[in-house]
Amino acid sequence: EPLVRHGDEVLTFENAPDGDPAVAAVRERVRAALAAGRVEMVGALGGDAGAGMGSTRVAADGSPAAVPHLGSTGEVDGVVERARSLAPTWAAAGADARVAVLSDVANRLEAAREQLIAVMAHEAGKTVGESEPEVSEAIDFARWYAGSAAGLADVGGEELTFEPVAVTLVTPPWNFPVAIAVGGVLAALAAGSAVVMKPSPLAARCGVAVARHVRDALAAAGHDPDLVQVVQVAEDEVGRHLVAHDGVDQVVLTGSLETAELFAGWRAGRDGVGGPRVFAETSGKNVLVVTPSADLDLAVADVVRSAFGHAGQKCSAASLVILVGSVGRSRRFHEQLLDAVTSLRVGVPDDLGTGMGPVVERPGGKLLRALTTLEQGETWAVQPREVAPPAGHEEWEGRLWTPGVRVGVQPGSWFHLTECFGPVLGVMRADTLEEAIAWQNAVPFGLTGGIHSLDAGEIDRWLAAVEVGNAYVNRHITGAVVQRQPFGGGRGPRWGRVPRPGGRRT
Ligand code: SER
Repeated sequence: EPLVRHGDEVLTFENAPDGDPAVAAVRERVRAALAAGRVEMVGALGGDAGAGMGSTRVAADGSPAAVPHLGSTGEVDGVVERARSLAPTWAAAGADARVAVLSDVANRLEAAREQLIAVMAHEAGKTVGESEPEVSEAIDFARWYAGSAAGLADVGGEELTFEPVAVTLVTPPWNFPVAIAVGGVLAALAAGSAVVMKPSPLAARCGVAVARHVRDALAAAGHDPDLVQVVQVAEDEVGRHLVAHDGVDQVVLTGSLETAELFAGWRAGRDGVGGPRVFAETSGKNVLVVTPSADLDLAVADVVRSAFGHAGQKCSAASLVILVGSVGRSRRFHEQLLDAVTSLRVGVPDDLGTGMGPVVERPGGKLLRALTTLEQGETWAVQPREVAPPAGHEEWEGRLWTPGVRVGVQPGSWFHLTECFGPVLGVMRADTLEEAIAWQNAVPFGLTGGIHSLDAGEIDRWLAAVEVGNAYVNRHITGAVVQRQPFGGGRGPRWGRVPRPGGRRT
């Protein structure tokens, strides 16, 4: 299917394929990149591979060593002014120029696939199995937005004129530090905006890697690479100065609800045409419903994948499974679920055999409570425990946890209603599908959700009543695919839907 007609040209879109881990040469390339990436990262941070990187991945002043840290409001002004000074030329460069740069970025990301996997593994703790499709997704975003850039000039034969904003601040998260960074930056570039990118301090090197490829593509085509600047700021008055800056026309954030509220508050006083313009995709607490008609083997596999992919650290992850009627009493289902969970191999991200990797930081707050404390009526079907990292990987100390399953979660309880963002799954038992839907809709976030059922009537009832942005039937509930499954929340606290063509496939 053509994505868009651009003059005489038809741009087509196909999802980039993942590297196939069954192919020995693919595994070898990934292994080599992981080994080289480890040496490079340790070297760059002045650490010692044997001593582990965790303690050294952030510089003494608390800033990630790899990113220019803006320490004063004057430095922020300099960065924003630089972006504003370059924006008009980029806006005037036209669709062809944007298409060319974005297509080149896609090719550069493909060429750097293994290096991107390595930096995600070492810095953000993503396993190879999670990082590989993230790179594919980043490439998809680049190709998709290349098509969009063309479409902006010529949609369906009509001539449309878009007036780009001058400067977009993009703040990607640590859990999808490559794909969402690429998506945010390239969507803005495609629309003719200059970009300031502030990656999460937990994944700053991933942000730098992304920015480098985009800047290289800009420079190779004769544009100023400073159209994309990558910076770090603390959450203090300097950070506030950047976020609320008069010269920043809009902010695109993927992160926690708290950060979205902070940013919205900082920008609330802005007037003018755009107003605050904060686009944020934030938290999630997602539910998979399993009815007695379901293919239970498939349901178990999808529950485990949805709950424990990237150790549950996805806004789309399944945090609850609601078992309807006899499924709640099915021994077979429970045994299979517990077998599947306990056989997940927990390990470090640069081991290709790892099934579930670390959490990004030592658990605290809500996650620690979810991992250690039961509420009334609940028991552990599988109790999470902290495990020691293998020798030489001390940077993951305190961050390797086995997955947990808490059963007997009560409607209205803390675990039912609270986002915990980690490897803990809660199990609830409902008498009817309608009761399950009511409990699903009672969760204060409506990002993704799923049903496993082979009964068309049940599926229709669920689809008609469930209040989520992405509703999945008989599949896992993470890993929206670019072009096929536009991704975003349907309900709950949010600040505008981020105009993304799709999500990750992890
Ligand atoms: N879009 C991702 C997913 O679908 C989450 O950010 O899993």
